[in-house]
Amino acid sequence: MGTSRVRRARPEDVRGLGELSDRVFRSMLKPGTGMPVEFPRLFHPDNAANLYFVADSAGNPVSLVGTYPSQLVSNGARLTALSIGSVATLPDYRGRGYATEMLETIMEERSPHHSIMLVSGGRGLYARLGCVEFGTLRRAWWVPTSWSDPGVTCRASSRLREDAPILHRLYRTEAYRVVRTPIEMESYLNATTAPRFRARPAPVRVLIAEREGTAVAYAVAAPGREGTRIDLLEWAGDRAGLLSLAQYAFRQMQGERVEWRFQSDDWTLGSLLDAHHIASEPCLNQGTIAVLNPERLLMEVNPLIKEQTGQHLTWEQGYRVAWASTPRGPAPELPAELDRGALARWLFTTDGFNLPLVDTGGLSYV
Ligand SMILES: CC(C)(COP(=O)(O)OP(=O)(O)OC[C@H]1O[C@@H](n2cnc3c(N)ncnc32)[C@H](O)[C@@H]1OP(=O)(O)O)[C@@H](O)C(=O)NCCC(=O)NCCS
Repeated sequence: MGTSRVRRARPEDVRGLGELSDRVFRSMLKPGTGMPVEFPRLFHPDNAANLYFVADSAGNPVSLVGTYPSQLVSNGARLTALSIGSVATLPDYRGRGYATEMLETIMEERSPHHSIMLVSGGRGLYARLGCVEFGTLRRAWWVPTSWSDPGVTCRASSRLREDAPILHRLYRTEAYRVVRTPIEMESYLNATTAPRFRARPAPVRVLIAEREGTAVAYAVAAPGREGTRIDLLEWAGDRAGLLSLAQYAFRQMQGERVEWRFQSDDWTLGSLLDAHHIASEPCLNQGTIAVLNPERLLMEVNPLIKEQTGQHLTWEQGYRVAWASTPRGPAPELPAELDRGALARWLFTTDGFNLPLVDTGGLSYV
């Protein structure tokens, strides 16, 4: 092997990389008008160094892997994550190992700084690098006929910039979320106005529930990719307010039913669903997860593990993990041999602790 072909972008490269991403993911649009509008933080000049690419001999980019650093809040714990997406190679350049080489470079270069990597897809390309499907959320679906909460009024936001700080305040009360700055919140909301946001057939709406003039909940409602289902892609705030928003979305957007995902330990919402006979079932989180730095990851999840088991995990080197002492509370058996994929499975799937993480299908970049 010669020297690496993988480069990290400079601010002046960002526009060309956004166009490359559109050529692959939004080929029906003029290059530069789709993905960079949908993912304004990813394709922001400030994020240039987090965009990895390979160029042809003339210096034009032909392959891209986008990354974005984020902190996940999970029931009080904080996990340092690196999100991966916009993985794209122009058709003529596929099968030369570019995407694999970039991902390997990223995993090596970034592992000191991030405990986990969240990837937008689940292809063989990712599985070979130790990415696994993960999580259990719940998916609710509802044909709202009977719900009414006379104290709540719903509206669609027509001024996202003005509403952003109010929605940010609601988002920040959630137990599972991504740490977002006010600028990130505003950008993510604005991104929903992109022409083909998340490849949805019709525009997405940001809906707000108010009680006595004060916002108590919001939901980002999107027409489903197929049929006339309405998906609430992201929501936060008062759980009864959420049901009002689901009903409002159902009526205004003329869906056949409305669906949303929620955390399995959201007992407030769970009991509301039971009371109103709203169905739900377990579902996987979106995309896949890999461990980047096992030592750092254990430091970050040990508070949650200790709360459940009375014990913490120790790290030696590589993937050598052990209990500090015998756990007293429920703990899945620790396999004798762990590797990158097995540790992710043990921590983040129902084969092990199944530590809950934020819904990666929300507005934050993955
Ligand atoms: C996925 C993609 C980024 C891979 O890029 P690449 O630079 O060709 O990747 P590599 O050469 O490292 O090879 C890895 C993948 O390419 C496949 N491949 C190999 N030769 C190929 C060829 N001639 N043409 C197309 N794909 C080929 C491999 O089977 C492997 O795919 P897998 O994930 O199904 O196992 C590229 O095919 C692409 O842009 N696809 C469309 C966008 C997309 O689906 N992105 C992923 C979103 S999650």
